[in-house]
Amino acid sequence: MTTISELTMQAEPCTYIIFGATGNLSRIKLMPALYHLDVENRLPEGTRIVALGRRDWDQAQWLSEVRDMIKTKIGQDFDEKVFQRFSAKLTYHRGDILKAECYSELNATISQDHYPKNMAFYLSISPAEFGEVIGYLSAEGLFKQDQGWRRIIIEKPFGYDLESANALQKRISRYVSEEQIYRIDHYLGKDTVQNVLVFRFANLMMEPLWNRNYIDHIQITHSEELGISTRGGYYDTAGALRDMVQSHLLQLLTLVAMEPPVSMEAESLRDEKVKVLKSIRSIPKEAVHAHAFRAQYAAGQIHGKSVNGYLQEDGIPANSVTETYAAIKLYIDNWRWRGIPFYLRTGKRMTKSQSIISICFRHPPQHLFHDTQIQTLNPNWVLLGIQPDECIRIEMTAKEPGLEMRTRTSSLDANYRQGNEKSTDAYENLLLDVLKGDRSLFLRFDEVEYAWRIVDPILQTWAVERDHISTYPAGSWGPAESSRLFDKESQYWRSSLTPECK
Ligand code: BG6
Repeated sequence: MTTISELTMQAEPCTYIIFGATGNLSRIKLMPALYHLDVENRLPEGTRIVALGRRDWDQAQWLSEVRDMIKTKIGQDFDEKVFQRFSAKLTYHRGDILKAECYSELNATISQDHYPKNMAFYLSISPAEFGEVIGYLSAEGLFKQDQGWRRIIIEKPFGYDLESANALQKRISRYVSEEQIYRIDHYLGKDTVQNVLVFRFANLMMEPLWNRNYIDHIQITHSEELGISTRGGYYDTAGALRDMVQSHLLQLLTLVAMEPPVSMEAESLRDEKVKVLKSIRSIPKEAVHAHAFRAQYAAGQIHGKSVNGYLQEDGIPANSVTETYAAIKLYIDNWRWRGIPFYLRTGKRMTKSQSIISICFRHPPQHLFHDTQIQTLNPNWVLLGIQPDECIRIEMTAKEPGLEMRTRTSSLDANYRQGNEKSTDAYENLLLDVLKGDRSLFLRFDEVEYAWRIVDPILQTWAVERDHISTYPAGSWGPAESSRLFDKESQYWRSSLTPECK
C-alpha cells in the first residue's frame, strides 16, 4: 500500500543487524526477503546485512548457508551471479548474545567506515531474551542517534500476557523511544491484508452497508494443514490463542472494523485500530465458556496421509492441554458494530490452509417469493480471501434461467492478482518500511496492550482448567462443539470461498 507518508519517505542505506540469523525465521523469511529486495534493486546502495549467530561459522560457511536458504526458496530461478552481488552485502558475526563482549565486538565491526550508520537491529530471537539484548545494545551506546537513525525490530510475541507485555515495555522504554521500535505483525505486510483497507475505503459502494444495520455477523478464519513441526518447545507454552488470535487475527479484525482514519499516516491509522480494540467488550471470567472454545488435534489424516496427534509430536508433554485450535466470539461496543458478533477461529492440522474474512449480511426485510418454488434465500456474503486464494467475492442471489422461479447463488469475483502479477512476501514490505521509517504497518504498544487485555481473561481461565481439552481429528475443520459460540441457529462456520461446500 502506498501510504501518504511513504510518498515522502525514502529508503535510506542502513546496516541491518539480524539477531538469530541462523534460526528458522531468518532462513525461510528474512534472508530470502532481503535477497529478493536486492534483486529488485530496492535495497539502497551501500546497505549491509550483518548476521549474528551463536554457531561457530566463518564467512564462507555463512555464505554457503545463505545460498542454500535462497535456493530452497526460489528453486530454479536461482542465479549465481545475482547471488554474488547480494553476498557482497553480507557479513557473519559470531557471538553469544547473552554476553557483553558480543556487543563490543559487534560495535567494533559495524563502526568500520563501510557500514552505514543508520542501523536496524532485527530481533529474531526468543522473546525471553528481548529485554536483555536491548539492554546490552544500549549499554554499548548503539541506540544513540547522533550519526544516523537506530531502529529495533521486535518479532512477536511481545510478552506472554498483559502483565509480561507491560513489564517488557517498561524495560525496553528505558533504552529506546517508541519511534525507534518496530513491532512486527507480519500479517500487516501481506498485500491482501492491506487490500482490506483499500476495499473498504477506496470503494464507496460498501461503506453505507458496513455496519450493524446490514451485517449479521463477521468471521475471520485462519486454518493450517501443518502441525507444530519442530516448534514444540515454543508452541506448547504459547497455544493458538497467543500464537495467532492475540496478534494476527485481532489485527485483521481492527482493519475490518475500524473507522476511516484521518489519513493513512502511521499514527492516524494506529489511533483508529486502537479505538476498535478498546471498544471490544471485555469477557468476564464467568463468561469465558460462552465466548471461547479450545481444542487440540488428535491423530488423523491430511491428504490421505496419517499424521500424529499433538501429544505425539516431539517435545510435547503427554498431559499437555495446550490448544492448537481456538475460536472466540467478540462484540465491539461502538456505534457501528454494537450487537454484531465477530467470530475468530484458528487451528493447526485442519482440512486446508487458508485465511478468509467472511462477512455475512442480513436477510432482506421481506421474503417476497413465498408463493414460488423458492423456499429459502441465502444471505449475501462478502468474502475476502487473504491466502492462498487472494480474492474478493460478493455472493448474490440470482434467478436460475428457465420457466421456474428458482434461485441460485452467483458470485461477483475480483481476483486480486491479474495475469502473472507476482506476490510480494510480507517481510519484503516490512523490511523496506523500516528503511523508510514508515511505522504504519507496525504495532504501537497500545495496540499490543489492548489485544492482551482482550485475550487475558480467556488465557487465565484456560490456564487453570488443566483436566480436559476437547480434541478434533487432524485433517478436519475442528471440533463441532465450537458451534456453540454462535448466537443464532442460522450461523455456521464458513470454511470455503465457494457457496457449494459451506
Ligand atoms: C506465525 C505463527 O506468527 O504465523 C505460526 O507463530 C503461524 O504458528 C504463522 O503458522 C502463520 O503465518 P502465515 O503467514 O504462514 O499465514
